[in-house]
Amino acid sequence: MLKVEQISKKFTDGDTSVQVLKDVSLEVETGELVAIVGPSGSGKSTLLSIIGALLSPSDGRVSINKEDISTYSSKNLSAVRLNKIGFIFQSSNLVPFLTVENQLLLVRDMKKNRDRKSKERASQLIYDLGLSHRSTSQINQLSGGEKQRVAIARAFMNDPDLILADEPTASLDSERGRKVVEMLSKEVKEKNKAALMVTHDERMLEVCDRVLYIEDGRIKS
Ligand SMILES: Nc1ncnc2c1ncn2[C@@H]1O[C@H](COP(=O)(O)OP(=O)(O)O)[C@@H](O)[C@H]1O
Ligand SMILES: [Mg+2]
Repeated sequence: MLKVEQISKKFTDGDTSVQVLKDVSLEVETGELVAIVGPSGSGKSTLLSIIGALLSPSDGRVSINKEDISTYSSKNLSAVRLNKIGFIFQSSNLVPFLTVENQLLLVRDMKKNRDRKSKERASQLIYDLGLSHRSTSQINQLSGGEKQRVAIARAFMNDPDLILADEPTASLDSERGRKVVEMLSKEVKEKNKAALMVTHDERMLEVCDRVLYIEDGRIKS
């Protein structure tokens, strides 16, 4: 489903440059939740941003469903982001003054179809993630765990083929964190998605199908 081939990334600032990713290759199959583990600064977020079409690689290729997105224009990349990829970030990146329900409908607005079906899907996701009592609450009234569940619901809203999560449990206690990863796993299995999750938390790894280790910009076997 996802194929990353020999990705390199170099950041240049004036006359200094840092090689953050070196020849990274990996694959994630449909139905798999794969974890990425590695020390701080090893290039995990950079890798996820490249896979998620937020950043372009200096070298190498990323294919989603056999479509090579590395050559896409920025307009096509934003379509890929909207239609094929769901993001969950550590700091949930929610709009503080919107209600839970409107937060989910916002991604649909971007697709210009805030219709009855979208509302039904939003309500279903809100229910599935145990947020029904919070549906009309503003984001800044929610706890950390609730916010992170809204971020997950939002990532699922457009029914993306690929879900990318960057330390989604970092702000949660271990019980809530585990629930979040289990939800991710359930969505992947039941709906035949692929997911890649960066985590620091060893306890989450048993919920994942496979673990990749990254160190100093390289995948270790
Ligand atoms: N835009 C950037 N410009 C320069 N260096 C960057 C940039 N983004 C990340 N880096 C550097 O790349 C390295 C890897 O960062 P990152 O991918 O965020 O690591 P991780 O998520 O594993 O902690 C770090 O040394 C970081 O300082
Ligand atoms: Mg990071």
